[in-house]
Amino acid sequence: MKFAERVENLPPYLFVGISRAIAKKKEQGIDVISFGIGDPDMHTPQPVLDALYDGAKNPANHRYPESEGLPEFRARAAKFYKDRFDVHIDPETEVINLIGAKEGIAHAALCFIDPGDISISPDPAYPVYEIGTMFAGGTTHFATLKEEKDYLVDFSEIPTDIAKKAKTLWINYPNNPTGAIAPMSFFQEAVQYCKEYDIALLHDAAYTEVTYDGYVAPSVLQVDGAMEIAMEFHSLSKTANMTGWRVGFAAGNRDMVNALMRVKSNIDSGLSQANQEMGIAALNLPSSWLDKNNEVYQKRRDKVVATLNEIGVPAVAPKGALYIWTPIPEGYTSAEFAQKLLDDADVVVTPGNGYGPGGEGYIRLSLTIPDDQIDEGLRRLAKIRVNA
Ligand SMILES: Cc1ncc(COP(=O)(O)O)c(C=O)c1O
Repeated sequence: MKFAERVENLPPYLFVGISRAIAKKKEQGIDVISFGIGDPDMHTPQPVLDALYDGAKNPANHRYPESEGLPEFRARAAKFYKDRFDVHIDPETEVINLIGAKEGIAHAALCFIDPGDISISPDPAYPVYEIGTMFAGGTTHFATLKEEKDYLVDFSEIPTDIAKKAKTLWINYPNNPTGAIAPMSFFQEAVQYCKEYDIALLHDAAYTEVTYDGYVAPSVLQVDGAMEIAMEFHSLSKTANMTGWRVGFAAGNRDMVNALMRVKSNIDSGLSQANQEMGIAALNLPSSWLDKNNEVYQKRRDKVVATLNEIGVPAVAPKGALYIWTPIPEGYTSAEFAQKLLDDADVVVTPGNGYGPGGEGYIRLSLTIPDDQIDEGLRRLAKIRVNA
């Protein structure tokens, strides 16, 4: 059988290798602690589950949903924008429901990228920006995120001929995997840059609500003129412990939202309406619920950073997202150091090069495992001799 190049060209999914390594250790009777994938261990809150139970009983929800989502969902998402960012979003035309942010991110490429086109993506990055572009027949120009530049895209380093040809620019703050945050001035620069070169600005805002130390993340749509060229992707996965329920949305420029709606309506039939009702309930959670949820991650963050520092790994506490991203000691590649932690401590971390070549020399630890496992993982890590 001959498969399409887009399938042949797919790199192995990052976490498959990690799952295999864990399974191998398990076979040997070793209980591995995994700081690998970012999938919240805490439960979906009860009011959100209640919305599912109620929604399941409503016969109207047994039928095909609309691709763009329930009007009630879109209205609630628009209210989120007003309350949280003071941005006006027209619920009819400027917001669309997604089957998780990942679905929208992957399909967005089909709205802008023709074969041979260029997309600019950060490196390291959530891999779907590049994969979506590849599926659409395009290629990605990587803009390396550097520690000394606070992991912000440096627009001056993007060659002008690439900028002139590029159709899309992806940004993501709070950032996966680096945990970096972006000041408003960066978003202003991004909007200006995309306007100058006629590029669609795509902001993955999956972690705007997962922040620490009182930090409040902005939306790119707060920038004057952003609505002319930008679309932003939100996820309830991490915000409300809902990875299994696949609820997200995109908002922004109406033509961009409409293009995504047209693509989606030819590919999927939208997210189950009962799940959309879960999304409404999640957006209705009081801010105190979110604060408490984030407090748990903040405590874990502090513990993990302290232990890494003790063993000679120079981790710094991030202000947002669910990850500790840290350079590794000299003398190791990312994969070698991750392997050492697995061999010597039975602890799994993600090698940074899994997020692109710019991630070489780093590892990522996710904060989404229960506290007792974090504590056990850190006890094991504390015994590691980095240069042994
Ligand atoms: C940066 C980033 N964007 C998007 C997603 C996907 O979110 P969802 O679960 O809503 O598809 C993730 C999930 O890990 C992520 O890290």
